[in-house]
Amino acid sequence: MSSPTLIFKKRPIVYLQGEPLLLWNWQQEQQTLLEILESKHVRIFSECRSGFCGACRTKVRQGSVKYLIEPLAELAADECLPCCCIPNEDLDLDITTEGADMPPVYQDKYA
Ligand code: FES
Repeated sequence: MSSPTLIFKKRPIVYLQGEPLLLWNWQQEQQTLLEILESKHVRIFSECRSGFCGACRTKVRQGSVKYLIEPLAELAADECLPCCCIPNEDLDLDITTEGADMPPVYQDKYA
């Protein structure tokens, strides 16, 4: 008798310019990356919030995203639209940490 195989997917870490911001919670999957970044006071511009205008276009330094809806805005291979995606794996975004609620271990560095 064979036992069922359990497959665990590691929760992605979201980084800002190499600094860890948060451990993605799959229960957040109903929320977009943009909404989660905003909840952490990350400075990011947005307009349509539906993948149409491209205003939230963000450079991805490392990792990949999964789109919840297919974006209409054109993107380079190293860009994503946080308004309509979630992390697919560890994700390092080219966004400043300035003003963001970074984890406590990093607060002294930015105080
Ligand atoms: S805010 Fe318009 S594409 Fe993201």
